[in-house]
Amino acid sequence: MNILENTRTNYKRWADKKLEGFSNKLDDLIVEINNPNSISKSEKNIILKTINQHNIVFFQINKGTINLKSSIKTLASQIGLGNYEIDSKSDNDGLTEIKIHNSMKPSAEYIPYTDKQLNWHTDGYYNNENNLILSWLLFCKSQSENGGMNKYMDHEIAYILFNKSFDNIGDLMLHNAYRIPENELTGRKAIDNAIFSFIKNKLYMKFSMREKNIIWNDKSKAATNNLKDIINSSEKYHISHKFSEGQGVITNNIIHMRTSFTNLEKKNRLLYRLRSKKRMET
Ligand SMILES: [Fe+2]
Repeated sequence: MNILENTRTNYKRWADKKLEGFSNKLDDLIVEINNPNSISKSEKNIILKTINQHNIVFFQINKGTINLKSSIKTLASQIGLGNYEIDSKSDNDGLTEIKIHNSMKPSAEYIPYTDKQLNWHTDGYYNNENNLILSWLLFCKSQSENGGMNKYMDHEIAYILFNKSFDNIGDLMLHNAYRIPENELTGRKAIDNAIFSFIKNKLYMKFSMREKNIIWNDKSKAATNNLKDIINSSEKYHISHKFSEGQGVITNNIIHMRTSFTNLEKKNRLLYRLRSKKRMET
C-alpha cells in the first residue's frame, strides 16, 4: 500500500493488519508436501494463503523423488511461479545450483557461490526494469554442518517500520536512489534504481547492504542509513531458519541474508534456486 497515495486510515489499517499477523514461527509458515509432482488442493491453498499474508512460505517434501530438480520445477509451476531468469549458471529452465564455486572468474560480480556471509539484499537489485525478480524459490538438497543459516524479513514490514519512524519514504522511492555502476568486464551498463516502488499496486524492493559497486544518491543516503538500521535492529521481525535437507522456501523477493558456513570434506552445501519474474499471489 502506497502511503503517499492513500489515506492515513487506509494505510494504518493495512499496516496494523500486517504487523499483527506477523509470525516468525516456522510452524505457521511451513507446508508439508506429500508429492511435489502433484500437490493437493489443500497444500496449494495453504501455500498461497501463507505467501499472500507473509510474502514467504516454507515447504518440506516428505517423499524422496527420483528426479529432484524436475520435481522442484513441477512444484513451482503448480503454484504459479514461472518466467524464470536464465543466466550463465542456470540450466535451460532457469534452475541454478547454489554451491561453492572455487574457480570464480573475476568477471562474476554478484556471488552467492562462496561460503561467506551474504548481507541483507533482495535478489536482482542490479537487474534492469525488464528483468525484475519478483519471487524466488530455494530448495535445500544438502546442508552444511556449521553455519548456513538464512534470515528473512518481509520488505512490506521494513517499509511499515520505516514509515512509523520517518516521514521521508519519498527519498527511498526516487528512481535514482542508488546506482549500480557500469561493469566493463561484462558489458553491463550502469543502472539507476528506486529502493521501494509499486508494481501493480504491490510493494517492490531493490536493495543491498553491500558497500562495493553501489553508489547511494546523496538525496537518499540519510534515509537509506535509517532503513539499514531498521532492518538490522528489527530482530523481532526476522525469520531465521537453517534448512534441513528436503526443505525449501518461496518468497516474493523479500529481504534476506545468509550466515557464513563451512563444508565438510565429503559433504557440501547445495541449494537449488529458481528466480521468477512473476510475483506469487492468488
Ligand atoms: Fe539472494
